Amino acid sequence: MREALKVLDATARHFQLPLKVTEAPVGWAGIDAAGKALPDATLALCRESDAILFGSVGLPDRDPTIPKEERPERAALLRIRKEFGLFANLRPVQLPKALSHSCPLKPERQGDGIDILVVRELTGGLYFGQPKRTEEITLADGSRTQRAIDTLVYTTPEIERIAHVAFRSARLRRGKVTSIDKANVLENGVLWRDTVSRIGREYADVGLEHMFVDNAAMQFLLRPAQFDVVLCENMFGDILSDEAAALAGSLGMLPSASLGATTDGRTFGFYEPAGGTAPDIAGKDLANPIAQILSAALMLRHSFGRDDAAKAIERAVLKVIHDGLRTGDIFNAADPAARRVGTRQMGDAIAAAVG
Ligand code: IPM
Ligand code: MG
Repeated sequence: MREALKVLDATARHFQLPLKVTEAPVGWAGIDAAGKALPDATLALCRESDAILFGSVGLPDRDPTIPKEERPERAALLRIRKEFGLFANLRPVQLPKALSHSCPLKPERQGDGIDILVVRELTGGLYFGQPKRTEEITLADGSRTQRAIDTLVYTTPEIERIAHVAFRSARLRRGKVTSIDKANVLENGVLWRDTVSRIGREYADVGLEHMFVDNAAMQFLLRPAQFDVVLCENMFGDILSDEAAALAGSLGMLPSASLGATTDGRTFGFYEPAGGTAPDIAGKDLANPIAQILSAALMLRHSFGRDDAAKAIERAVLKVIHDGLRTGDIFNAADPAARRVGTRQMGDAIAAAVG
């Protein structure tokens, strides 16, 4: 986050953006500061703001006595997504040519390059469906056991609105949507497929194909270049976006935008790296700041309407990658151009390249 703010500051100066940044604690920092993963003051500040630039939350091993409903993942991240109606999660995955060495696929499988936009539904499905609980039950033989229940539920309007986001995004890209489901097994998959097909007819200029999620997981590895926009329900999108990020070199490269409805031309948004906190490398100047920096670029584009400033950041990232700068996660000694740098050095170089 420190590097993202550095880059944002350089960008604001260069483009003379009247950007006001206020910081507030969340996650374990919120628990430490105010006894809650999402302190009331932090939530109030979010409500007054035009956008949220979010760091990563969650340290699975810290203080196991705190109940799961109060832990940062559910009490901060999922709560904010729901509270602000952030149903559309955009995760752009790009493998720049210069990072070809960091892709786990052989060069011939990389095709003409990987450039995928995962459009993930973010406020429905298994994450939020009710009932959701763990209970004790008696089996037929009289023994007692635990049973966990999560509910996969979607309504037609929830599918329609995320489908519109995918088709509109495809129009600005290569004009193709691949919709992911499990229509051969799940009721949800059938409703998903029918609804997406119907909405697709409103976008005659966009190609639509449907793919089962298991096949999609395989196709990502075999022929990732076939994908443009990949439309998924919440859980499938969570899984496939990590897989796609690995193709693009590292989860440390994957930004995300979580958007709600646009009202009066303004889109409130939440911008966060798609990866987690990586506690094993915290504070060691090893983390890749690019996902956080690119999330700030998405914020300028989607919530502040400054595509020019967003592009300047994206170009700066490409430039430093092209120049060979690599944090550990994307460093490959087999690449003669690669030069290993720390988190700060990467942030400094990107900030310098923005102007
Ligand atoms: C993500 C993360 C979150 C999710 C976790 C931290 C709750 O994996 O944003 O992809 O599952 O949505
Ligand atoms: Mg995830």
